[in-house]
Amino acid sequence: MKILKTLAGAVAMAGLMAGSAVAADMTVGFSQIGSESGWRAAETTLTREQAEKRGIDLKFADAQQKQENQIKAIRSFIAQGVDAILLAPVVATGWDQVLEEAKDAEIPVVLLDRQVDSSDDLYLTAVGSDLEHEGEVAGQWLVDNVGDKDCNVVELQGTTGSSPAIKRKAGFEKAIAGHDNIEIVRSQTGDFTRTKGKEVMESFLKAENGGKDICALYAHNDDMAVGAIQAIKEAGLKPGSDILVVSIDAVPDIFLAMAAGEANATVELTPNMAGPAFDALEAYKKDGTMPPKFIQTESKLFTQSDDPKAVYEEKKNQGY
Ligand code: AHR
Repeated sequence: MKILKTLAGAVAMAGLMAGSAVAADMTVGFSQIGSESGWRAAETTLTREQAEKRGIDLKFADAQQKQENQIKAIRSFIAQGVDAILLAPVVATGWDQVLEEAKDAEIPVVLLDRQVDSSDDLYLTAVGSDLEHEGEVAGQWLVDNVGDKDCNVVELQGTTGSSPAIKRKAGFEKAIAGHDNIEIVRSQTGDFTRTKGKEVMESFLKAENGGKDICALYAHNDDMAVGAIQAIKEAGLKPGSDILVVSIDAVPDIFLAMAAGEANATVELTPNMAGPAFDALEAYKKDGTMPPKFIQTESKLFTQSDDPKAVYEEKKNQGY
C-alpha cells in the first residue's frame, strides 16, 4: 500500500512538473447510498458527468441503502489505492473506524450531501447544504401561510438515523416553535422513497379522520411528497388545498405537482455536490491547498408563484 501511494505520489509530481492536469491522474472511489429518490439519481448522474469532464477515473459503488456495503466499498477502494474517496453516508454514526483506515492510508475522503458524527479530522471536507436551515425554511413557509389558523401537520421523515432526517426535523420544529396553532400530530419515516411515502401517508389519513383533520404535510423530500399526494387524491381530498404540501429537494416532478396546484412549496437541494468536491480535491492534490471543513451549497425556496411549469422544463433533463 505504502509503495502504491509513493508511486502514485511520484506520478502526480511528475505530472505537475510536466504541467499536466492533476485530475487526469486521479482515480476516485464513490460510495453512493443507492437510488432511493430522484434527487439521488441526479447526484449520481452529475458525479459521473463531472468526473468524465475532468478526466477523473470514477469507481462507483452502489450501497443499496446499507452502511455495511458502504464500509466494504471504502475498504475495497483503500485496497485498490485510489487517490480519493467520495462518501455519501447513509446514516450519521458508525464511521470512525473506516475513516481512520482511509486516513492511515493517506487517502482523503470527501463527504457528499449527508454528514457524519465523526471528528472532522477524519475527512478532508464535506460538501452539502445546511440541512437544518432547509427544515427551517419549510417550517417558516407554513407559518407564513397558515397565519392564526389551527393546523395539524403530518411529517414524513427521511431515513432513520440519517443527517437530513435528523436536521430537517429539528429545523422545521424550530420554525414552528412558539406558534401554538401549528402542531405535528404524526411523524414517521418514509425512507425518502415514493412507495413508502404513499404507504405511510395512507396510514396517516386513516388515523386522522380520513385526512379531514390534517391541515398540512411536511415531507423531508419531494419523492415522499409525490407518493403522499397520490394517497391524498385516492382518499378523495385535494393535495395543495385541503392538505398543504411542503417538502425538500426541488426535483422536476414536484414542479409538475405545483403546476397542477397539488404541492405548495419545496426547498431546493442542488444535486451537483461533485463539482465543488472535485474542485477541492484537485486543489488539494495539486499543491496541498486545504479546503474549508464544510463547503456549503445554496438552499432556495420555490412556491407555486415561481412558474413551476418553466422550472420543470428546465430541470427535466438534468439527470433526475
Ligand atoms: O441526503 C440528501 C437526501 O437524500 C435528499 O433530500 C433525498 O431525496 C435523498 O434521498
